[in-house]
Parts: sequence; structure tokens; C-alpha cells
Amino acid sequence: VEPDAAWRDEVLRLAAEKDAVILAHNYQLPEIQDIAHHTGDSLALSRIAAASDASTIVFCGVHFMAETAKILSPDKTVLIPDERAGCSLADSITGDQLREWKAEHPGAVVVSYVNTTAEVKAETDICCTSSNAVEVVASIPADREVLFLPDQFLGAHVRRKTGRENLHIWAGECHVHAGINGPELAARAAADPDADLFIHPECGCATSALYLAGEGAVPAEQVKILSTGDMLVAARSTKAKSVLVATEIGMLHQLRKAAPEIDFRAVNERASCKYMKMITPAALLRCLRDGLDEVHVDAETARRAKGAVQRMIEIGQ
Ligand code: 13P
Ligand code: SF4
Repeated sequence: VEPDAAWRDEVLRLAAEKDAVILAHNYQLPEIQDIAHHTGDSLALSRIAAASDASTIVFCGVHFMAETAKILSPDKTVLIPDERAGCSLADSITGDQLREWKAEHPGAVVVSYVNTTAEVKAETDICCTSSNAVEVVASIPADREVLFLPDQFLGAHVRRKTGRENLHIWAGECHVHAGINGPELAARAAADPDADLFIHPECGCATSALYLAGEGAVPAEQVKILSTGDMLVAARSTKAKSVLVATEIGMLHQLRKAAPEIDFRAVNERASCKYMKMITPAALLRCLRDGLDEVHVDAETARRAKGAVQRMIEIGQ
């Protein structure tokens, strides 16, 4: 299937016929981002999914994102073009592991990144995304212990920002972001000293970027730790002529659209998420035509997870 005019017409015709809204994460293939009714980061898409009055949500992203939409809207049909689109970060903690961790810290508040399974969300007090993690943790009384999971790099970022000592961090990571490393970032920044650095907090190199700023190798105001949605906001306001981007490479498409005059370059061009890229033009067409793959979340799990997800979309609104 080629993403040509006939493909676009057929996708949009089927979406209208089935009363479906198509949502695409910023890491999707360019042709999927361009045909979607809405693109955005995890938080923005969760909010759009919750507010939409379409009876079907087609989620072009990974499985936990579609599950989150289903938790918020159990009466809607939620489809993902390929249910095998998982997430290595969401796989880094199971419901059993979280129950054991909670037992070791009775009374702690559990904050889970949205990149988790529905079963883990059902054991969670508040979910967060990269764009509101700091605000979510800051909203918890200072004397309460916090269990933050599953991403160790986002956890380190939250600890730096909140200065919180009683924040326990799970040692999970995303294989794509963990692979964007500090030496590579330092070499790129040295070759282009005027470039801004846009760094996703899931990156292994976020600490290195702050170290470079601390050493004076890069001016501190050029180092920006941002969610994918906040990168777009920053792209529209920066004075920099070039930007080094440390996140999944799908992000470059929206950045270049938002600020065509800026030279955006990936810190690591191999940082591509194989799960995000499973959502192909052929898979999207099949999804709309055949109503596949449908996302189901067991009703009791969804009921227990909903409060945590609801709090996530309310904080920082
Ligand atoms: P955001 O879109 O919330 O920045 O998340 C990044 C990510 O890795 C999603 O899988
Ligand atoms: Fe998961 Fe990483 Fe892929 Fe995002 S980029 S979906 S965190 S594996």
C-alpha cells in the first residue's frame, strides 16, 4: 500500500463512515502523522481521546496509549492498527513487581508514567507523562514517600527538579532513549556550539547535557529538557538557527513543520522505535476497513486504573 492520494481518500472516507477520529503520536511515520485528525504527545492525545465525541478512536501509537484511551472511554471502540506495537519501557515493570515494591514501602504514593500496562495503572495513585511528571510529584505532600516508575531517567529528572529525597525510582528504561548517549551528545554539541539541545527526559544523555551546561561547555539556556509536545512549543519561540534533538527520530517531522527555517538534527539517527513504526499505511487502512485490532481492558482493571489516569489529565491543565 502506497501512501498516495487514493490511500488518503480511502482512509478519510472510512474514518467518516465509521465515525472514527484518528490520533497519531509525534513518533509515528510522517505519512501517518499527516493524515491523522490530531497529532501530539502522550498527554495531549489522552486529553483529546477523553474529550472526543467520535464513537471510535483509532490510536496510531503504541499499545499502552490505546489502552489509556480505552480506560478513559470504556464505552467507545478503541482500535490500534497493529496490537503488537508494544513498548520496552512499559514492559520493564509488571503488576506483580509493583505489588511487591508497594509492600516494601507501605503508605507511599505511587506515581506511574503513562508508559505502563493497564494492570500497573490499576495499582497506581497518579499517572503522569513527561510533560507533567514534575507537577504531579510536586502536588504530593512533601512528607509522603513516593514510588516513581518505571523510567529511571525521567525519575532522575523529577528528583533534580523537585529536590525530593523521598522519591524512590524504578530502574526501567526505554531502549530507544537509553541508547542516545552522553558522549555522542557532547561531540555533536561541540561541533555546533550555538545549537539548542532539545532533550527528552527519557534519554540517558539528559544528565550529561546538564553536566555540559554545568561545565560551561554549552550555555545553560541552550539546554532544554522537554516532552515531545513541549519541544514543538520551544521550536516556535527559540532564536537558535539549529537544534540538536535527542528523542525518537519521528519527532523531526513535526519540528520541521513547526519551524521550517531551523535546522533540526537528530543526536542519534538510529533512535527509531520499531513499535511506533509498526503502524504502517497498510495497517491503518486495514484497521479502518476491518475494525482491527480492537483494544480491550478488563472492566475491573479499567475501573481501578481510571482515577489515576483522570488525575494525570487534570494536573497541569
Ligand atoms: P511524550 O510524547 O509524552 O513526550 O512521550 C514520549 C514517549 O516515549 C512515548 O512513548
Ligand atoms: Fe516505548 Fe521507547 Fe518506543 Fe516510546 S520510544 S513507545 S518509550 S519503546
